[in-house]
Amino acid sequence: MKNHELLSTLQSSFIGTDTQYPTVDGKRGSRIYLDSAASTLMMEPAFKVGHEFLMHYASTHSDLHYSAKGASQAFEWAHKCVLEFVGASEEKYCAFFAGNGATAGFNRMATSLSKIRPERDLVLVSEMEHHSNDLPHREHSSQVIHIPCMGEFESYGGFSMECLQESIQKYGKKINYVAVTGASNVTGTITPLEEVAKLVHSVGAYTIVDASQMIAHAPVCMDDADLDVLVFSGHKIYAPGSPGVVIAKKTLLNAISPSELGGGMVDDVSLAEYVLTNNLPDREEAGTPNIVGAITLGASLDLLIRVGMDTIREKEINLIDYTWNNLTLIDGVTVYGPNPSEIPRTGTISFNIKGFDHGLTAAALNDYHNIQLRNGCFCAHPYVRELLKRELWEVDLDPDDTNVEALVERKRGMARASFGLYTTIEDLKKLIAAVSDLAFRREEIVGQYEPVGANGYRHKYYAPDAEDIFNPETVLAQSIEWSQLQHDVKMKRATKK
Ligand SMILES: Cc1ncc(COP(=O)(O)O)c(C=O)c1O
Repeated sequence: MKNHELLSTLQSSFIGTDTQYPTVDGKRGSRIYLDSAASTLMMEPAFKVGHEFLMHYASTHSDLHYSAKGASQAFEWAHKCVLEFVGASEEKYCAFFAGNGATAGFNRMATSLSKIRPERDLVLVSEMEHHSNDLPHREHSSQVIHIPCMGEFESYGGFSMECLQESIQKYGKKINYVAVTGASNVTGTITPLEEVAKLVHSVGAYTIVDASQMIAHAPVCMDDADLDVLVFSGHKIYAPGSPGVVIAKKTLLNAISPSELGGGMVDDVSLAEYVLTNNLPDREEAGTPNIVGAITLGASLDLLIRVGMDTIREKEINLIDYTWNNLTLIDGVTVYGPNPSEIPRTGTISFNIKGFDHGLTAAALNDYHNIQLRNGCFCAHPYVRELLKRELWEVDLDPDDTNVEALVERKRGMARASFGLYTTIEDLKKLIAAVSDLAFRREEIVGQYEPVGANGYRHKYYAPDAEDIFNPETVLAQSIEWSQLQHDVKMKRATKK
């Protein structure tokens, strides 16, 4: 099958795109899922691979019974899929799985890297980072310097390469590593990674790249860019329930001590001492791994390799341009970040509608239009505050005021529409129409809501029936009933014999 054909087959192979919910007008319809930057939907073929593996399920690290052998081989295959996907050669790089997402990977690397090269006690972190690629470095390094972004206010874009260069010249061999995102989770702005790595290596520092928002949207080649460490979450690339992933140069992993210890990563243990294995990735994967999740993720990556990330990027650029061009035309709508024709972006577009707090936009799009997106500061508070500065100053609120009052919370945030492979132009047409509708009927819609909690909103007259939302107990009861039926049939057949 050709790339484009495989892509269109794949686009209709996701679980949950047809899930129906009711709306305020009493109708029911399929949800439009535009919350992929938080977590993507499950790719069905990949899910099937993970599900099928359960027929053979056993833990890894043994070759002596068939199932354990199969599990070990499949787990190793998942590592290989990761390396191939990020263009990392097996000679130079090692991939390992860690925790539930990228957060685990950053904490692991920050802890380990802070213990080597004590003469280099400084870390540079861009100002546009998600907290998980900022706070672990603040916690474990002696000093973190933040690199500011270019532009100002709404069009505040990627971090400034000039500022990075200045800091690199200023701090030189005091820098242990530089942590940057591959793409922003607020504006989708893409970082020129090759350029960054060259600058960083000029003083012997390492580069840590947060690929969480880039991994499903743009091609990456660690070999070409000579990146030292890349971290991402499997659940952001169509394998919910899969682990976090770290890919790092073997030379670097050999220089650090693993920050997690336990079974599976030692050669020998006596009461007096223990000997860590030199085998990678075992040394970095203490404990029983999330084998099903890793295999599901491997399958998703394998399929995406077959389609080609260039093909996927090409398709997404059209969707980004369409959304940007049309959202920016709506009266009273502010779209944040640089114009995608000037600075490349992924399909993550944050905006606000005049007269709507970000929470109200998200609630009304859900309740009236069945459109699901996220709101708030997206765990990137410093970046979002900068983007919102002008607006907050205009209403006399200081965005840097950490003594947050309820009003600030309600104003300080955005609504974010983020795409996945399953996002269609029709979905985005509906988004544009829905945002226009909200902007046009502002007074009427705002009047239907009351505030709840710190920044939530509730429709005064409409509350969906609990039955319409997933209830694990209901599903469990149905499942038990089904198992009971099957059991009864088996018993009847057995007594007939
Ligand atoms: C850019 C970025 N980095 C890191 C993370 C953290 O990922 P996780 O919550 O899967 O650990 C996120 C999650 O939204 C993100 O968007």
